[in-house]
Amino acid sequence: METDFLVIGSGIAGLTYALKTAKQHPDMSVMVITKTQADETNTKYAQGGVAGVWDEEKDSYDKHIEDTLIAGDGLCNREIVEIVVKEGPERIREIIGYGAQFDKNEQGEYSLGKEGGHSENRILHHKDVTGKEIERALLEELKTIPNIRLVNHCFVVDIITQHHMGYLVTKSTTDITCYGVYVLNRQTNQIEKVLAKITLLATGGCGQAYRTTTNPRIATGDGVAMVYRAKGRIENMEFIQFHPTALFEPGVSPSFLITEAVRGDGGILRNKDGEAFMERYDPRKDLAPRDIVARAIDNEMKRTGTEYVYLDCRHMDKEKFIHHFPNIYNKCLSIGIDVMQQMIPVAPAAHYSCGGIKTDEWGRTSIQHLYACGECASTGLHGANRLASNSLLEAMVFGHRCYLDAIGKIAKISFEKNIPDWIALSTMEPREMILITQSQKELQQIMSDYVGIVRTDVRLERAMKRLDLLFTETEELYRSAKVSPQLCELRNLISVGYLIVKGAQFRKESRGLHYNTDHTEKSPLLQNIIL
Ligand code: FAD
Ligand code: SIN
Repeated sequence: METDFLVIGSGIAGLTYALKTAKQHPDMSVMVITKTQADETNTKYAQGGVAGVWDEEKDSYDKHIEDTLIAGDGLCNREIVEIVVKEGPERIREIIGYGAQFDKNEQGEYSLGKEGGHSENRILHHKDVTGKEIERALLEELKTIPNIRLVNHCFVVDIITQHHMGYLVTKSTTDITCYGVYVLNRQTNQIEKVLAKITLLATGGCGQAYRTTTNPRIATGDGVAMVYRAKGRIENMEFIQFHPTALFEPGVSPSFLITEAVRGDGGILRNKDGEAFMERYDPRKDLAPRDIVARAIDNEMKRTGTEYVYLDCRHMDKEKFIHHFPNIYNKCLSIGIDVMQQMIPVAPAAHYSCGGIKTDEWGRTSIQHLYACGECASTGLHGANRLASNSLLEAMVFGHRCYLDAIGKIAKISFEKNIPDWIALSTMEPREMILITQSQKELQQIMSDYVGIVRTDVRLERAMKRLDLLFTETEELYRSAKVSPQLCELRNLISVGYLIVKGAQFRKESRGLHYNTDHTEKSPLLQNIIL
């Protein structure tokens, strides 16, 4: 297969880019590949909304920039923050143009929510299911564009570079080039090659590296792992954001999120004794940035010997609550919690990867003809901790920027015809599928126990040793068994785990989401860790 523009991922990042390139070049082909069905993305589960300066009388770009920089704890790239904040509202107008509906107040103005770390109300939302609405609008728009081919249920195994043509590619090779990808077609079970002039990775997050996560099954860090295998640059993977308030429901995975917007509307965190403990940790109380709130909850749980704390909404207006958060209200009711009568048990869960594939201000990766945007990319916006609701915004802004750069380049790029077919190392079905699922559980256990909200040098060292063993066993399995999506995902998650631990080991300080009790101070040296 050949396509001019290849897009891996059908979330907000991939679809923003695909729609724009296809509309700009109706004469060219755009292919969007997804590993399950098109709408099964992190995007679909977004609740709180999209941050953007909308009400310029009360809010300003400067305030949104400042809030983002404060949350990022010294590591944001100011230039990128300014780009995203200033270009964001235009991108939001575009998805409104595609038909995405955001809630309005009685005066017909957009009703703007508030979340942790924001100094103003600036979150546009669709009830508590904003992502579902955005994904719907983007996929509807996609149906109207004839030169986009959407290919579901195809698992991208690797990006194709000179390595596959027999050249030695090392981390010091300066001109690594991407020629397309190898995909596992889940209908035929064959690995096919897709050649592309330009490839975009929009593969989303990696929450599945942890036992408790808000991320759906697809979030296995495939793009990051593929780029790392191809000797591209990966940045700041140690900054994994834990959302403070996932519903505590033992045995249920992924965890159901209780959006931060609930705290924005007045929800209060309480410990098992009923104490509103956040005032002991930060003057911004329940609306402090996420790293602070998640650490405070972790500390309260350890101090009081509980597995969760409570989110108290009992004092909130019932009608308003149901109007803004119908999905949460119904979910809680379905497990026997009437939020107007009872408090909601919540605990932190792995939620967002702030680091990822290193990109520049146009979404270019360190590999030629390969772009990345959305959660899999590290643009410099989030620094050491992402400000709530900035990621949908970032995905749209960089989807647009990747498009602008790519359309300026495509005419000079041709297909590389000398790409060999995939060489199957083995055609044997894995005899024991249980080995894969057990190893994935082990990985999640290691990451949650040793590389969670609070880290220590000894825990990181132990995690690395355990990962080493898992890596060796999985590589053996990979050589001896037929390639399957489950095996590839396990391999990718192990790489991602390695990148998180390695980044955490290099960072001898505590900053933003990375907190190590052996190095509790911030280093005076501001550094991004690139692997
Ligand atoms: P995704 O939307 O995750 O899409 C990834 C795509 O890549 C999928 O189509 C998948 O099939 C494809 N893919 C991955 N690997 C492969 C492969 N190997 N082969 C083929 N295809 C592949 N952010 C906000 O700004 N506001 C919010 O309110 C908000 N709420 C959130 C609530 C929840 C519960 C979660 C989980 C996240 C939330 N976030 C929120 C974060 C935000 O939703 C994500 O960061 C964002 O949607 C990521 O978009 P994306 O396009 O980068 O990736
Ligand atoms: C939420 O709704 O609390 C999630 C928002 C985000 O992750 O940005």
